[in-house]
Amino acid sequence: MEYAERLENVAVLGAAGKMGSGIVLLVSQEMADLALKPENRSKTFVLHAVDVSHQALLGLVKYLREQVRKSAEKKITTLRSAYADRKDLVDNGEIIDAYVDHVLDVVRPATLLAAAAEANVVFEAAPEDLALKLKLLACASGDGSKTPWVFTNTSSIPIHEIDEKARLGGRIMGFHFYNPPAVQKLVELIRGKTTLPEVAKFAEALTKSLRKTVVPSNDVAGFIGNGHFMRDMLHGISEAERLGKEMPFPHAVYCVNKVSQDFLVRPMGVFQLADYVGLDVCQCILNVMDPRLPGQDLKSPLIDRLLGQGVKGGQNHDGSQKDGFLHYDAGRPAGVYDPDAGRYAPLSEFQAECDKKLGPLPEPALPWKAAVKHPSREKALEEFFGKLENMTTLGAQLWRRYGRRSKEIGLKLVSDGVAASPEDVNKVLLTGFFHAYGPVNDYFARTVSPAKAAT
Ligand SMILES: NC(=O)c1ccc[n+]([C@@H]2O[C@H](COP(=O)([O-])OP(=O)(O)OC[C@H]3O[C@@H](n4cnc5c(N)ncnc54)[C@H](O)[C@@H]3O)[C@@H](O)[C@H]2O)c1
Repeated sequence: MEYAERLENVAVLGAAGKMGSGIVLLVSQEMADLALKPENRSKTFVLHAVDVSHQALLGLVKYLREQVRKSAEKKITTLRSAYADRKDLVDNGEIIDAYVDHVLDVVRPATLLAAAAEANVVFEAAPEDLALKLKLLACASGDGSKTPWVFTNTSSIPIHEIDEKARLGGRIMGFHFYNPPAVQKLVELIRGKTTLPEVAKFAEALTKSLRKTVVPSNDVAGFIGNGHFMRDMLHGISEAERLGKEMPFPHAVYCVNKVSQDFLVRPMGVFQLADYVGLDVCQCILNVMDPRLPGQDLKSPLIDRLLGQGVKGGQNHDGSQKDGFLHYDAGRPAGVYDPDAGRYAPLSEFQAECDKKLGPLPEPALPWKAAVKHPSREKALEEFFGKLENMTTLGAQLWRRYGRRSKEIGLKLVSDGVAASPEDVNKVLLTGFFHAYGPVNDYFARTVSPAKAAT
């Protein structure tokens, strides 16, 4: 079955979720574009958008309508030639409307899994719960007339494990989009040890057509992206716990968050990022990684404790940030959660005191946005970090320990064979996490020596 034929019948499971809706958007347009090609005119392209929530599927259709319109506006010249034989479509508005209808005709929302039974390709984007994923993938086991290829968006579960437990016989590959799939360039492709070569070949062709930046990851729990992020987050948490012995815990969280953003020149601090991802999601990923990577202690009793107190992070329906480690006011951090008191301590009460304890940032300042736009980014970072290297303030000490740990994590991903090279680790952090520089760099010494670690 060649590429277009395989894409004639597709199912997306968990289609109305954060990742599922983006996957439906991308794949339905790919299918609609294929359908517009003269050689495919006899084919019928159908995408079954399966989700347990009827309400969420209504939201999906609205989202698709808006997003497909935007993308049609961008590719109007291509669409004009694709619809050249439609003499009834004259102005741009008519062509855009026709394309939106065309894509929405491809998508069939469904709440019943049975709709997926005829699919040649199944994208699985259900919550990060192995038992649920296996239950859903029973539709792909090959017991019916079809033996579909499965592309799972799992953030952490080894692909070979899903393959064995769902009895897919190698018809599966990790296709790890980043959030939101339609915007984020990065896709981590993960081949399990049994993944069939033709499945991998199709995945590569699809990423190419979607113009994604691909980084291959080995099939180890957490892969490259979460392999780095989870350990990086656990470092941030352990630093806050260490500092929390000398200062109130919310102050310590604030200090580490500030260092991991402003001193490390990252788009957001580590606690803000954990809130953005959702503490429940972080817990799920750690629960997958920890038992599969023994001896690494990939747990966070603090996250477990916060979740036990109902502190979750993640986003509201309108996309606004929910409170997690931090409390947000108009999207900006305004307080830090104190698990002992069970409430948020307002930043206005202690921010100035903590900033003084951390000490100043080097001059001239280098905020992340300025760094990524800087015409000589590497040189600017070298100068900024060079100044920090010569500082002995608390902020500089935390910065040094953090940068070195992040580098150590990156190097270990390579030595453990999760990533093929330091460049691949850096590409994931640069593209998927929007860092201004990769964790494997010359700004930080290779490892934290016990003597330096004490500083
Ligand atoms: N959110 C992210 O930033 C992100 C990034 C990369 C990968 N992922 C991974 O993508 C997957 C999906 O994550 P998400 O954030 O989109 O989750 P989500 O909770 O936003 O979406 C999951 C969807 O699955 C649906 N669902 C639940 N049970 C179902 C069932 N029995 N049948 C059909 N649908 C069902 C839900 O209604 C929901 O719409 C997970 O494996 C996650 O680890 C998430």
